[in-house]
Amino acid sequence: MEIIETHCHLNNEQYANDLPAVIERAQASGVVHLINIGWDVASSEKAIQQAMVYTNMKAAVGIHPHDADTISDQALARLEDLAINDVVVAWGEIGLDYYYDNSPREIQREAFRRQMAMAQRLQIPVVIHSRDATEDTLTILREYAPLQGVMHCFSGSWETAKTCIDLGLYIGFAGPITFKNANRLRAVAARVPLERLVVETDCPYLSPEPLRGRRNEPAYLQHTLAKLAEIKEVDIVEVARVTTDNARTLFGLA
Ligand code: NI
Repeated sequence: MEIIETHCHLNNEQYANDLPAVIERAQASGVVHLINIGWDVASSEKAIQQAMVYTNMKAAVGIHPHDADTISDQALARLEDLAINDVVVAWGEIGLDYYYDNSPREIQREAFRRQMAMAQRLQIPVVIHSRDATEDTLTILREYAPLQGVMHCFSGSWETAKTCIDLGLYIGFAGPITFKNANRLRAVAARVPLERLVVETDCPYLSPEPLRGRRNEPAYLQHTLAKLAEIKEVDIVEVARVTTDNARTLFGLA
């Protein structure tokens, strides 16, 4: 079984002491590619450095909505320089987060638009984060459609998923579809065509059941895949095969 982990933060300091072991466990569990995702300039630089060490790792560069107030002409220019590196396969994660509101909303929207424009110009897929900001996220996404990218760690309604798919995006599901109280989300996952679906951990966050509460890691993707197989009523090998094909297409992986 070949699995592609489409969204992890192995550049997070929580892996500073044992990254080689984490990568080894990922490989042993069938993970053939990992996309290591930046959230600001420094973490994007680190994602690239790590991807140059581990051959099964690729990187994404971008400024997360939490850090939107760190965007500047200089920061964008630095990310643009980084994006031309061979190991960079996407721009992200970018978007809007009105749940935490760590950056003012107006600044989040501006940072999102500037980065969507940059990704469009560079013709590179986008990794989108949206929390409690569906309407504004879709408004901005429509301005840049048709899109190539993924709505990461999807938690919205079927109507929102359908809109994203129509705009050209894949839908990424993470640990939350395994959570006991997530029947609504599982009902959405049941309706998203397997051909538009990719899997991710968003580690170190959001460990799936039965590992909830621990530090997450790519090897735990198994639990999310197993739950998806159950939801879709297809064999886990088939879920892995199709979502891996999807991820290869999405990020242009060999
Ligand atoms: Ni993330």
